[in-house]
Amino acid sequence: MKTLVTIGRGGTGKSSFVALMAKCLIEAGQAPLLLVDADPDQNLAEMVGVDLKEAGKHTISELLVSTFIEQGGTTVGIPPSERIESKIWSSGLFESDHFDFLAVGTKWVEGCYCMPNAALKGALEALTKNYKYVLIDSPAGLEHLNRRITSKVNDIFDILDHSKKSFDHVRRAYRIAQEVGIQFDNFYIVGGYRFPEQLGDTAEKTLKFKYLGKIAFDEEVDDYVLAGKSLLNLPSDNAAYLSVKKILNNAAYFV
Ligand SMILES: Nc1ncnc2c1ncn2[C@@H]1O[C@H](COP(=O)(O)OP(=O)(O)O)[C@@H](O)[C@H]1O
Ligand SMILES: [Mg+2]
Repeated sequence: MKTLVTIGRGGTGKSSFVALMAKCLIEAGQAPLLLVDADPDQNLAEMVGVDLKEAGKHTISELLVSTFIEQGGTTVGIPPSERIESKIWSSGLFESDHFDFLAVGTKWVEGCYCMPNAALKGALEALTKNYKYVLIDSPAGLEHLNRRITSKVNDIFDILDHSKKSFDHVRRAYRIAQEVGIQFDNFYIVGGYRFPEQLGDTAEKTLKFKYLGKIAFDEEVDDYVLAGKSLLNLPSDNAAYLSVKKILNNAAYFV
């Protein structure tokens, strides 16, 4: 099992990148995948054609609140980690042929649920064993790194936009990840769809992280997102999709 986390400033194209990575892996026969939307804005679901409400599923935050807060502490005999784990299985996990989907949800950011944090970590570790890849879409800020729901990841992809600030974002993200002890194998930088192509080399030299290439700007992706259509259904000659394929191959994923 490999965990791939995508981070970056707001609007750089993180969620669409995660959706396109999912498409690449699925079409290369590398399923089953677990997609985790850790962004309270919850854009990823629509981009992969998932409607949690319609499917009667709940976000992890909702499940945490109903397990630990509304129902009070522990129920005799059942450890909290098992309760949350079975709840995630039964009412959090959206399942489909090639991928399953989980949303962390909004309430997560509102309070500090230390015990649930530990329980959730345990539950997630047990849950993620069933997949070949776990793809995590992150919120724009870096606070989620501090919460460490994922303490061990394989690859981090930081998506750059056209601003100087996104270089700072990379440095800060790398520092925080190290400070809070997140273990990772690779920290990659990726040019977002608005990133000037010719800055790739500069980015790599300045930041000293491997630059995997740029996500192509693509009207069709934008149209799909605006129309709420699944990016998994983009045609296989779509430019953004092909660019993400190249990016993954540069990171030694064979898709
Ligand atoms: N490759 C692309 N080409 C053109 N527009 C894109 C592309 N990727 C994303 N967009 C547009 O940019 C906006 C932000 O993308 P999104 O993936 O939601 O970013 P983030 O998750 O970083 O906030 C969306 O409205 C989407 O339509
Ligand atoms: Mg997003």
